[in-house]
Amino acid sequence: MLFSRKIAFIGTGNMGEALLGGLLKAELTNPENIIATDVREYRLDEVKKKWGVNTTTDNHRAVAFADVIVLCVKPQALSAVLSEIKADIRDSQLIISIIAGITTRTISKFIGKENPIVRVMPNIPAVVDEAASGLCLGEYAEELHKEIAMKILGAVGEVEALPEELMDVVTGLSGSGPAYIYMVIEALTDGGVMMGLPRNIATRLATQTVLGSAKLVRETLEHPAVLKDQVTTPGGTTILAIKELEESGLRPMLIRAVETATNRSRELSRFLEKKNNIHNDSD
Ligand SMILES: NC(=O)c1ccc[n+]([C@@H]2O[C@H](COP(=O)([O-])OP(=O)(O)OC[C@H]3O[C@@H](n4cnc5c(N)ncnc54)[C@H](OP(=O)(O)O)[C@@H]3O)[C@@H](O)[C@H]2O)c1
Repeated sequence: MLFSRKIAFIGTGNMGEALLGGLLKAELTNPENIIATDVREYRLDEVKKKWGVNTTTDNHRAVAFADVIVLCVKPQALSAVLSEIKADIRDSQLIISIIAGITTRTISKFIGKENPIVRVMPNIPAVVDEAASGLCLGEYAEELHKEIAMKILGAVGEVEALPEELMDVVTGLSGSGPAYIYMVIEALTDGGVMMGLPRNIATRLATQTVLGSAKLVRETLEHPAVLKDQVTTPGGTTILAIKELEESGLRPMLIRAVETATNRSRELSRFLEKKNNIHNDSD
């Protein structure tokens, strides 16, 4: 389905490269079907050398080439990019936006056209093909457009389709989530070091523990509490550690972290829309 479609990545930073690289590694398309743009020539040289895709600093050329346009610039660059390309956008083109905090309605309003738009919130493990992404459909997007976006994002990890009002929650959980888990890995490592392990070994053990535990949840589909109970021997080491974690409030702390990040995402979204002067009338 996707194979013959031409895809333009507008902005080829961390995410743009992760997505185009994911498609090529999964052999879902050929480099000739992809064009990548950026404002920096040297960045495009790197991407061309590594992946063999077409590159250009000219966003007009990329839009003319593509069936699918993937917006991968920072939110601050959005209004400049959309002003630049909106006249080039053809009715048949699917627009996929990975830009945090910008709604499909806002993009539709900005371009003044009824193109199908799919909004995606990926996360940084996309660079190692282990992203946890949420996506939602804009007003003019249909099942086929969802399938195309699922395929592109599916090449770099797991994807969940959701109503747009839940995209800020996706940001608060999986978008920001890698930072929470890095802190957990760092703290477990420090615990190991405090109790005598060399730091490099403690880091490897902590990292593998997080990875292996996540994999077990994913592969067994067991409730995490069941898996926790399975490793908790009566009167043993783990139950005492769990008491410490409960007394220190690990669970409410993580719940509040997701709540706070979600609320901040909502706030930033409103700010970005006002800043870009693309506030929706009905808001
Ligand atoms: N990184 C994450 O974890 C993550 C997670 C979820 C969603 N996102 C979203 O993904 C988007 C991209 O994030 P990122 O981390 O990949 O950012 P990034 O590394 O800064 O990539 C954006 C790229 O776009 C380039 N650019 C700027 N203006 C442009 C223009 N007019 N035309 C073409 N290219 C242009 C930038 O060049 P300069 O650097 O020279 O400006 C940069 O190379 C953001 O909107 C972010 O909200 C990121």
